[in-house]
Amino acid sequence: MKKVALVTGITGQDGSYLAELLLAKGYEVHGLIRRASTFNTTRIEHIYQDPHCPDTRLFLHYGDLCDGGRLAMLLSKINPDEVYNLAAQSHVRVSFEEPEYTGTTTGVGSVRLLEAVRLAGVSCRYYQASSSEMFGASPPPQNELTPFYPRSPYGVAKVYSYWITRNYREAYGMFAVNGILFNHESPRRGETFVTRKIARSVARIKAGLESELFLGNLDAVRDWGYAPEYVEGMWRMLQVDEPDDYVLATGQGYSVADFAGFAFEHAGLNWQDYVRFDEGYVRPTEVDSLIGDPTKAHQLLDWKADVRAPELAAIMVDADIEALGCSGTPWIDKPALMSWAS
Ligand code: NAP
Ligand code: GDD
Repeated sequence: MKKVALVTGITGQDGSYLAELLLAKGYEVHGLIRRASTFNTTRIEHIYQDPHCPDTRLFLHYGDLCDGGRLAMLLSKINPDEVYNLAAQSHVRVSFEEPEYTGTTTGVGSVRLLEAVRLAGVSCRYYQASSSEMFGASPPPQNELTPFYPRSPYGVAKVYSYWITRNYREAYGMFAVNGILFNHESPRRGETFVTRKIARSVARIKAGLESELFLGNLDAVRDWGYAPEYVEGMWRMLQVDEPDDYVLATGQGYSVADFAGFAFEHAGLNWQDYVRFDEGYVRPTEVDSLIGDPTKAHQLLDWKADVRAPELAAIMVDADIEALGCSGTPWIDKPALMSWAS
């Protein structure tokens, strides 16, 4: 029988790849979207169909993690087999500007959704998008047993979501899991995250549209993987017999300067000729080094990351160069179909 999934954050990087994956596996997919004054569905327009077509399997619903009543109503109506909670205010630097809002979406938003599942009496499997930012100041390599030491309002909010997910698993016997994902990127990455900012700037410098790139801390080390591989890992966490928590990572760390080097070099440029320091991008407290140990996911989920940072940088630079050339975004191959919003 056809499985039904609900994805929050479907308009984001991971949500769009996960929706593609689930549709390819034959799922009926329901996505939660926020009402905005401009369209925020660019990343999923290419998979959206007319909702009146008999073979449509992607449905979008207005909702917000700040609106628990709406979540409970949607859970009852959709009655999903699997719920993926990917929605969040996901930018670490922004969380210092908006700590309270980050807490109510990225943190308390998760309990609103879990409570909606519980109150609706839906028997489903639940995935929580937890983050390596929870490890913060704990030195690498980090795995499922590493103590949390978050260094931002975002990291603190994710620790709350992690523990409330475990609590619902233990208190109510829910099949609720945490995927503790290290940084993962793609051409669909938001433009203010450092890898995409670099890739986009390389494309624009190459095209003669700009001549400098302003960055903050170049020494921070991250474990950067490729987003499409990570959404496969999320799905696998909900297919095993017992609920558990897993780290997804490549196991290799590179500095921001390294990533800039890979990206500029791919375009035949020397990064030091273009990158400038701007203190405005430095965070009040920084996470110096995140390098994950994905052994558990490899052993129990048969999951591993293949794409590493040098190749990832090349994929992202190529996509941004192509997007500039066709004045668009690289993942859209169909005209926009926005009938759901009318
Ligand atoms: P993203 O591109 O920033 O997408 C975030 C999504 O959340 C968007 O669809 C956004 O909707 C939605 N959202 C934000 N606030 C919401 C609210 N109050 N109610 C409902 N939806 C809301 O993030 P991502 O990179 O795909 O990451 C997905 C999840 O994994 C996030 O929870 C993130 O914190 C977590 N995570 C990401 C990484 C990574 O490296 N990418 C690593 C570890 C964990 P709009 O389009 O309307 O803004
Ligand atoms: N965004 C940004 N912009 N970061 C910069 C810049 C800049 O101009 N210059 C240096 N950096 C450094 C940041 O200080 C940080 O150390 C590193 O680049 C990565 O920053 P981001 O790309 O913004 O990602 P993040 O690691 O803070 O957070 C991402 O990964 C987390 C998982 O570890 C986000 O996707 C989070 O949602 C996710 O949980």
